[in-house]
This record gives sequence, structure tokens and C-alpha cells, in this order.
Amino acid sequence: MRIGILTGGGDCPGLNAVIRAVVRSGTTQHGDEVVGFRDGWRGVVDGDTVPLDVAATRGLLPRGGTVLGTSRTNPFALDGGPERVLETCRRLGIDALVPVGGEDTLGVAHRLAGAGLRCVGVPKTIDNDLDATDYTFGFDTAVGVASEAIDRLHTTGDSHHRALVVEVMGRHAGWIALHAGMSGGATVVLVPERPFDLDAVVAHCQHRFDSGFSPIVVVSEGAVPADGHLTTATGQRDAFGHERLGGIGEALARVIEQRTGRESRAVVLGHVQRGGTPTPFDRVLATRFGLAAVRAVHSGASDVMVALRGTDIVQVPLAEAIAQLKLVPLERYEEAEVFFG
Ligand code: F6P
Repeated sequence: MRIGILTGGGDCPGLNAVIRAVVRSGTTQHGDEVVGFRDGWRGVVDGDTVPLDVAATRGLLPRGGTVLGTSRTNPFALDGGPERVLETCRRLGIDALVPVGGEDTLGVAHRLAGAGLRCVGVPKTIDNDLDATDYTFGFDTAVGVASEAIDRLHTTGDSHHRALVVEVMGRHAGWIALHAGMSGGATVVLVPERPFDLDAVVAHCQHRFDSGFSPIVVVSEGAVPADGHLTTATGQRDAFGHERLGGIGEALARVIEQRTGRESRAVVLGHVQRGGTPTPFDRVLATRFGLAAVRAVHSGASDVMVALRGTDIVQVPLAEAIAQLKLVPLERYEEAEVFFG
């Protein structure tokens, strides 16, 4: 068979491990030919390919990012985009596509599968917010990076008697904040799913200062205050004279400083969480997903995504995979709350 593979959306540690597994399993176990498309759906629309064989995947397992490149191109947002995807696959004799991505990339795969293109999706996101799989690869790596940062911030915070606010990724789901905060012993964790009470956050920080330690607040980039009264205006102007808006982390640090009278600093971890080598857990999960995708293709499956359920890799309909985001449930947040303050 001729299998096409693409990586779409934000990059994620473990993408190269999926590519390696698909190529290794496809070519050596099944006699497949594997074609890589550059930069997500953009490469399929434009017919921009890179041949993939075992030699091309050597050394890929520990490598971060994606050797295929990625983009957020959505063929359905382009004039004639879906038709161009179908035409590329027909012209190149692609029997099945393995799109590796999050909600958006897999949503496109679902629609194309409906148009007759055989698609087996692989879930990817550091946010861990895809509902149909217990875990996505990339998440464990991101949590590891954030957790290490928190460990380091404890020591500098305590030395300077300062509060430190760590802003982590997660626009809609607070999984990274929750896990990194729990593993790093945060004073308080704030997630998008639970609008927070600013007075309670300040009280937790004050309590921590009163006990002789520095507070660490871990906040998802998408967290919001319950009463909506937290300005992200910094009072500073950029080189063009426009007012500079900060993120939620900076806004919180400012309020904590004003209300506790203690110095506070904000650290935005940003894309550091997405870069670099995947953890062993993510390498294994990504590899198992890649192997399962090739098995699914050869079993004749389409319009499905491989997923982790418990310790098993299963297939779920793509429609189910993109139906809703997996948010942090209240019980999970309450477990973390026991340690606040
Ligand atoms: O979905 C992954 C993610 O890293 C989010 O956590 C984050 O909000 C977003 O991508 C950042 O996107 P970009 O790389 O386009 O800035």
C-alpha cells in the first residue's frame, strides 16, 4: 500500500516517534511505501511530499518537533482545498492517510473520510484535551518541563521572599497546570475550567508567606477570575506607543504584589513546554500509536483514530474523537485543592 502521513497543528514532542513507527512498521512488516507530506494539510493541498524510508527515520526517536514540518492550514478554509487534497492523493496513488494532530487536524480528516479518502488519525496535543483517548503524547513531556521549572522557582522564590506565578499552556483545559502544579507542590493551581476567586488566591499566597515560604501560583493561560476584575493592562507602552497587554500570569503577579506587599514575579513558560526531546512515556505512546495506525490501515479501517484506553491501544470513530474537549473534572481539581495554601 501507499500510506501518506502528515503532522498538523502545534508541534509536540513525540511526533517524530510516530513517523518512525509508521515507516518502520509499514515498510518492514507490510511492504508499504510511506510518503510524508510537508507542513500538515498544506503539503497535501499542494502535493508537497518527502519520501520516507527506514534510513530517513534513523535517530528520530528522541528528536523533538516534527521532521515533516507543521501548519494550521485547513483545506476546508481554502477555495477548492478539499478537491485539491483528493486530487493529490489520487495522483500519488495514496491508499490511506495517517494525519497526526489535534482537534482541528482530525476534524479535517473526518470530513475527508466522509468524502471517500481513507483516513486513520493519530491524536496529538501537549494539552491532553482530546476526549476519546486517556492520554496524548507530548503531555507528559510538557508536564515534566513545567514541573522542573516549578522546582527551580521554589528555590529562587524562597531566597528572595517573593511570590512566583508560573503561566503554563492550556487555553481551554487545565491539565498541564493541574499535573505540573501537583507534582511541583504549587501553593495554588488555576485552570480555565474553574473561574478563580482572586481574594482566595491572595489569601493562599499570604498564608504561604506567613509560614515562612514563598508562594508558587501555577496558572493556565486560559484561566479567568470569577468576577472578571483582573486587568491585563501593564501600564507600559511598546515602541509604537501602544499599551502593552500582559498575560494572566503577569496580571496575577501584579495583584499579589499589591495586596501582600511582597515582591512578585511572573514566568511564562510558553513554547519551551512544546520543544525538545520527548519523555520515555511519550516515546512509547507515540510509537504504539504509530504501530496501531498501520495495523488499522491494513485492517481496512477508516474514519477512525487510534486511542489509549487504560493500557490498551484501541480504535475510536473520528467523529467521537472530535466531539468535545476533555476538561479537568471537578473531582480532579478538588484533589489538588487539598494542598493549596
Ligand atoms: O494546542 C497546543 C498549544 O500549545 C496550546 O497549549 C497553546 O495555547 C497553543 O498551542 C499555542 O499556539 P501557537 O504555537 O500557535 O502560539
